Amino acid sequence: MSRLPQSGHPVLSVENLTVDHPGRDRTVRAVDGVSFTVGAGEALVLLGESGSGKTTVARTVLALPGRAARVTGSVRLGGTDLLTAGERTLSRIRGRRVGYVAQDPTGALDPLRRIGPQLTEVLRRHRIADGRRAARALVPGLLAAAGVSDPERIARSHPHELSGGQRQRAAIALALACGPELLVADEPTTALDVLVQAQVLDLFGRLRAERGTALLLVTHDLEAARRVGGRVAVMRDGRVVETGPAERVLSRPGHSFTAELVATRQEAHR
Ligand SMILES: Nc1ncnc2c1ncn2[C@@H]1O[C@H](COP(=O)(O)OP(=O)(O)OP(=O)(O)O)[C@@H](O)[C@H]1O
Ligand SMILES: [Mg+2]
Repeated sequence: MSRLPQSGHPVLSVENLTVDHPGRDRTVRAVDGVSFTVGAGEALVLLGESGSGKTTVARTVLALPGRAARVTGSVRLGGTDLLTAGERTLSRIRGRRVGYVAQDPTGALDPLRRIGPQLTEVLRRHRIADGRRAARALVPGLLAAAGVSDPERIARSHPHELSGGQRQRAAIALALACGPELLVADEPTTALDVLVQAQVLDLFGRLRAERGTALLLVTHDLEAARRVGGRVAVMRDGRVVETGPAERVLSRPGHSFTAELVATRQEAHR
C-alpha cells in the first residue's frame, strides 16, 4: 500500500528546525536547531527527558506546532516542504501520507461512533476505497494488521467498550488506514502494560520491513528505544546531543548526558 519516496529524497528530512513558544514573560525555545532524516523502512527514535522538546518536534513534523509557535528551518516529506505548504495540501498529507499515533488514543477516536465506521470514513475521505461497501471490506484487515485479535467484534465496538491496548491498536489502525509513508508515534506505549508495549513496538518493526513505512518514534523509555532499534537521537533542552545506531548509543554512549540517562535507568532497575 505504501508509496515509495521520490528518488533521492529521504521520506522525512528535518533541517535546522527551531521552534519558539512565545509566553507572557519570556519565549521558550522548545527546539533549537534540530536536524535529522528518516528513510523508507527506517526508524528514528527521539529519546530524552521530559521537556526536552520531543513532542514539539513530532507536532512540527505534522505541521501542528501550536498556534503561536514560531518555527524556522525546514521539514520536508519527500519533496514537499510542510512548513510552507498551504492548509489544503496539509490536510491531504495528514492521515494519508503521515499517520500519527499519540500517547492517549482517546483523542484520535470519536467516543460516539463504533470503530468500523471511523475507519471507513478515513478510507473514503482519502479515496482509498470507493463506496461504503468497498471501505467496509477493508476494515477487518486493517484492524488485524494493527494486531487486533478479534477484528469483527472490535469494528462493532465503541471506544469505551475496548481495553486500553485495544483502543491503542484501533488508533494505530486508523493511523495506518491509508498506508502512510511515515508514521509519527509520540509515546504510543507509555499507557500500556509491558507485554502489549512489546507487541506494539514489534508491529512497528513489521510495518517497516513489510511496507517500507518510515517511523519517527518519541519516547523517554530506553527499553522501547532498544526494542525498536534503528537510530536514536538523544535530545536535551531542545537540541540533539547525540545520534547513532540505538545499539551503539545505548551500550556505549558518546555523550555524557546519554551516559547519565542510561545510568539513571540502570539504577531504577536495581
Ligand atoms: N504550546 C506550548 N506553549 C508554550 N510552551 C510549550 C508549548 N508546548 C511545549 N512547550 C514547552 O516547550 C518545551 C518542550 O516541550 P515538549 O512537550 O516538546 O517536551 P517533551 O520532550 O515532549 O516532554 P515530555 O517527555 O514531558 O512529553 C517545554 O519547556 C514546554 O513547556
Ligand atoms: Mg512529550
